Amino acid sequence: MGSFYFETFGCQMNVADSDSVSLALMHRGYTRCETAQEADLLIVNTCSVREHAEVRAKMRLSQFAALKRSSQSPKKLWVIGCMAERAGDSLRKEIRGIDAVIGATRLEFIDQFIDGLLPISGGEKVPAALAQSGPSIFVPITRGCDNFCTYCIVPYVRGREHSIPAADIETQVRQRVELGAREITLLGQNVNSYRENDLGLPALLRRLEKIDGLLRIRFTTSHPKDCSLELLDTMAASNRIVHHMHVPVQAGSDRVLDAMNRGYTKTTYLKLIDAIKTRMPHADITTDVMVGFPSETESEFKETLDLFTQVQYTQAFMFAYSPREGTVAAQHKESISEEEKKTRLAELIDIQTAITKRKYQEMVGQNTRVLITCQQDGRDRLWMGQNSGSKKTLCSGENIAPGDLLDVKVVRSTGMTLMCERIS
Ligand code: SAH
Ligand code: SF4
Ligand code: F3S
Repeated sequence: MGSFYFETFGCQMNVADSDSVSLALMHRGYTRCETAQEADLLIVNTCSVREHAEVRAKMRLSQFAALKRSSQSPKKLWVIGCMAERAGDSLRKEIRGIDAVIGATRLEFIDQFIDGLLPISGGEKVPAALAQSGPSIFVPITRGCDNFCTYCIVPYVRGREHSIPAADIETQVRQRVELGAREITLLGQNVNSYRENDLGLPALLRRLEKIDGLLRIRFTTSHPKDCSLELLDTMAASNRIVHHMHVPVQAGSDRVLDAMNRGYTKTTYLKLIDAIKTRMPHADITTDVMVGFPSETESEFKETLDLFTQVQYTQAFMFAYSPREGTVAAQHKESISEEEKKTRLAELIDIQTAITKRKYQEMVGQNTRVLITCQQDGRDRLWMGQNSGSKKTLCSGENIAPGDLLDVKVVRSTGMTLMCERIS
């Protein structure tokens, strides 16, 4: 037992959890490997947000169980995360060969019980400094969710919302910056509801901004109902907090928004968008949306299309509604066929893809600042990064390294990536 292999499904919170489980394992002398074949421990971090996410995770688990059976050396298989929380030990009956099921709510305290699951490899703990990851890291500031949007499984698999103490967040960020992190993305299902006594998200951002060596701060997800003008003012005044707001709209019709229990109307949402645009004219605004929520009419769907044309998002994550057992919406009969959902989704994607393309194209000829995150696979002079909004970049040049913050000129757009050249 000495090496592990990770496969992570789902959102950035899962990436952060996989990262902290990896660190805990490395701290105990385990090494990460690149393929499942060579690993002693296989871990699948799962998502339950849509049916499709669960199907994919189960497929992977079955493949790993088969690999475990056919392998010469003994292997262990763990399933962790949101589907592990939802399905629990029933997964072990469904897929033979799973050794441990660790639900998402237990991952916050992984350090406290991992010793009971695994021996320390080599008998000795390894200093954290040996367990470094890349220049851009995710840092959860809240966990769980109390919003209970009627379609959503997250509150059931992640539990009640709580904020992590600001001092703990700051300590963690300082440690990671010392180990080479240059950019943090603060995470929560609703980061706007972060609160420790009278310290909210804007004050937390101002506090973290002061950390030497930390070049950039991002945060996600902002729930439109809790997004304050103080937050927007804090962003606008800062040159370290990126000008990117991810504000999931979910639907463009007031009746559907109400049925979803989102807590805002189209009018209040558009007011927020205006406030963002007024304070940060070049900000990237992105969103999540779904089509085919139970009883969504054709004209309500059209309201979503209209809203997309009006807002002009830089990018959008677009989904077909997927009923999740145990949620309020799943009790309603589905009135929209899978076929119809697909048609609506395709129409929305068409409109948004054209907008995204144009948003990227508008950047050609302009200067922007990118944080280099890694090298593009197999290319020694091509570097991936992200600009000071939400746009993906590829930068060519000599003497570039992950963690560099570079001024670049955009020379071309592929529609979803800005091709850049370093200035001086
Ligand atoms: N906390 C975030 C998002 C969590 S899940 C928020 O409040 O926006 C990410 C996205 O998945 C959601 O924004 C929503 O668009 C989508 N989603 C959630 N449940 C879904 C379901 N049952 N069917 C389809 N899409 C869903
Ligand atoms: Fe789900 Fe709504 Fe919570 Fe987001 S805010 S995680 S969509 S319940
Ligand atoms: Fe994230 Fe999926 Fe869980 S979206 S919180 S990994 S259900």
